[in-house]
Amino acid sequence: MLPPDWYRLIRPALFALPAETAHALTVRALKAGLLPLPKPVTDPRLAVRLWGRTLPHPVGIAPGFDKHGAVIAEAFRLGAGFLELGGVTPRPQPGNDRPRVFRLPRQGAVINRYGLNSVGLDVFCARLEAYRARPDGTGLIGVNLGKNKDTADPVADYVLGMRRLAGLADFVTVNVSSPNTPGLRALQGRDPLRRILDAAVDVRDRTGTETRVVLKIAPDLTPADEDDIATVALAAGIDGMTIANTSIARPATLGPHWARQEGGLSGRPVFAPSTALLARMASRLDGAMPLIGVGGIDGPDAAWAKLEAGATVVQLYTAMIFEGPGLIPRLLDGLRGRVEAAGGWPQRHSPTAGATGPAGNSLPLRADMAG
Ligand SMILES: Cc1cc2nc3c(=O)[nH]c(=O)nc-3n(C[C@H](O)[C@H](O)[C@H](O)COP(=O)(O)O)c2cc1C
Repeated sequence: MLPPDWYRLIRPALFALPAETAHALTVRALKAGLLPLPKPVTDPRLAVRLWGRTLPHPVGIAPGFDKHGAVIAEAFRLGAGFLELGGVTPRPQPGNDRPRVFRLPRQGAVINRYGLNSVGLDVFCARLEAYRARPDGTGLIGVNLGKNKDTADPVADYVLGMRRLAGLADFVTVNVSSPNTPGLRALQGRDPLRRILDAAVDVRDRTGTETRVVLKIAPDLTPADEDDIATVALAAGIDGMTIANTSIARPATLGPHWARQEGGLSGRPVFAPSTALLARMASRLDGAMPLIGVGGIDGPDAAWAKLEAGATVVQLYTAMIFEGPGLIPRLLDGLRGRVEAAGGWPQRHSPTAGATGPAGNSLPLRADMAG
């Protein structure tokens, strides 16, 4: 029997390994049932509504943790209220050369340049179908969708992904914001973005599925980019926006060594800029769609700040690398106190602020933002 703080005890050994090796080991141990998992948190006061569904709580695991759909049921057992798997690309691709992920423990940060290494949609969808066939395979799952590095037609890649995932994923996230695929972030520009989102929404509508279309944006945008993205997202009729991906910025606190390391920065240093961007987009979108807040969440205060800034739900990844599987239950304990003190979730930007859920239900649910 391992002690409750077992992650702190094994962390030095884990951190002595290259970050990618440590992650692969963790995933294998999770799959094999070797990790002691936290007790599930079931407290109706933490429930939230998203796209017509009730989630046990608003904290999900961000894409990057389970890129290949290898540990879907197990990731829910880490306490996630919902999952976003991937990024996945239509065809398998190896990603960049190793080493391609680095921990910055003093800064509570990670720099990664995986470059969307992916098993491809065939293998990925088979795994998601296997999860869906389980009696407990009903969790809310998003799939983060990228394009292949060498594709001639990015729009076709997103359409293909959307077609394969329609009806299988609860939401598909159009990822045009990973910094490690050349040219990908340029797809956030007004014209390419309009083509991609219109095409994704068209697949959603033609297939008649409940699969929602979400856009994930980078934190390194100009005000003009932000305006364009909001305008295009509203015109296309997408169902949500995730704010934000990893950053190419290098705050001075990182020092010169890490400033030179190429890749996307995540964790504590991106909390402030990604939360500020979330608040700006919440104002621009004015409650038209639910927002997923991600970037530097390492505890209840950070999660609450994202919800106050306009997020309906939040995601995290980097802090779990440093804190281990106890993070989500600890965070939920803290959130419970905040919800009790505030008498419910923050609802600043919800279109039907003040709603308390279905009739006869006195839960402090956030507004149902079904689109
Ligand atoms: C190792 C690693 C891999 C990631 N892979 C993806 C990915 O494939 N697609 C994506 O949209 N975001 C990816 N992300 C970004 C996260 O989903 C998240 O947006 C970002 O890390 C900020 O959240 P955090 O500070 O809680 O980690 C990755 C992040 C890390 C650290």
